[in-house]
Amino acid sequence: MMNPLRKKKLEIVDEPTPAPRPEEAGKRYAIEARGIKKSFKAGQLMVDVLKGIDLLIEPGEIVLVMGPSGSGKSTLLAAVSGLMKPDAGSVIALDTNIWKMTRRKIDRFRLANCGFIFQGFNLFPALTASQQVQIILKFMKKKKSERKALAEAALNDVNLGHRLGNRPDRMSGGEKQRVAIARALAKKPKLIFADEPTSALDGENGNVVMTLLRKCAKEQGATVLCVTHDARLATFADRIITIEDGRITSTNADPAIFAHHH
Ligand SMILES: Nc1ncnc2c1ncn2[C@@H]1O[C@H](COP(=O)(O)OP(=O)(O)OP(=O)(O)O)[C@@H](O)[C@H]1O
Ligand SMILES: [Mg+2]
Repeated sequence: MMNPLRKKKLEIVDEPTPAPRPEEAGKRYAIEARGIKKSFKAGQLMVDVLKGIDLLIEPGEIVLVMGPSGSGKSTLLAAVSGLMKPDAGSVIALDTNIWKMTRRKIDRFRLANCGFIFQGFNLFPALTASQQVQIILKFMKKKKSERKALAEAALNDVNLGHRLGNRPDRMSGGEKQRVAIARALAKKPKLIFADEPTSALDGENGNVVMTLLRKCAKEQGATVLCVTHDARLATFADRIITIEDGRITSTNADPAIFAHHH
């Protein structure tokens, strides 16, 4: 007998992209996600974590996604950035229909265009700061001399020019996060995805992180999608999207609401 969960999945993945609404027609987005759904199996049940989300982000925009724990923020980021296939919906990023591509092409798209910053830094214990940044550039097949120069420049940008040879165990939390940011930004990605990039940092280091992301957006035209609980980040955003229980509740929340919460 056919597994009903499986059937449901197959049915919706290939839904055609709905036509744009008139007010959106002709507009170009860096990220255009529509009808995103995702469910996870919890025992015998399916839990609907994303219940049909539309997300339209303009080039160079810095958008924060805020909402309670468990509301689906990280799941949404993963679906939009090509890390986890949604059960339904479409994602067009930089004019590329992500989930229509093969796994290999998606990986290549991410390598060429996306920078990721996560809460846990994900640094390699055995590598120096410079090597952490170079490893991505190596995947991108950049020559050794160019890798070194780009890594050094990226680490200089995050004020770690004096720490090129340090390994993670010799760095503070703020320094580690700055290495992770240098690693994400060294290739000058057009899309930057951040999930709680400041949660392990004090206020000052949090500001450094957000100032860098802002610089990428405003000076290099990068588009930034950042998931956070941290109300202090609101002042760095162009727009705040709120999500609750798998649905978007506001696509342009007033930052003042969040600024008062802490
Ligand atoms: N791989 C998975 N398998 C099963 N359930 C999952 C999986 N990933 C997420 N979930 C569930 O989906 C829901 C949303 O998770 P998600 O990580 O997107 O929330 P979040 O908004 O990022 O929360 P937080 O602010 O705590 O990081 C949670 O209930 C979580 O338990
Ligand atoms: Mg999360």
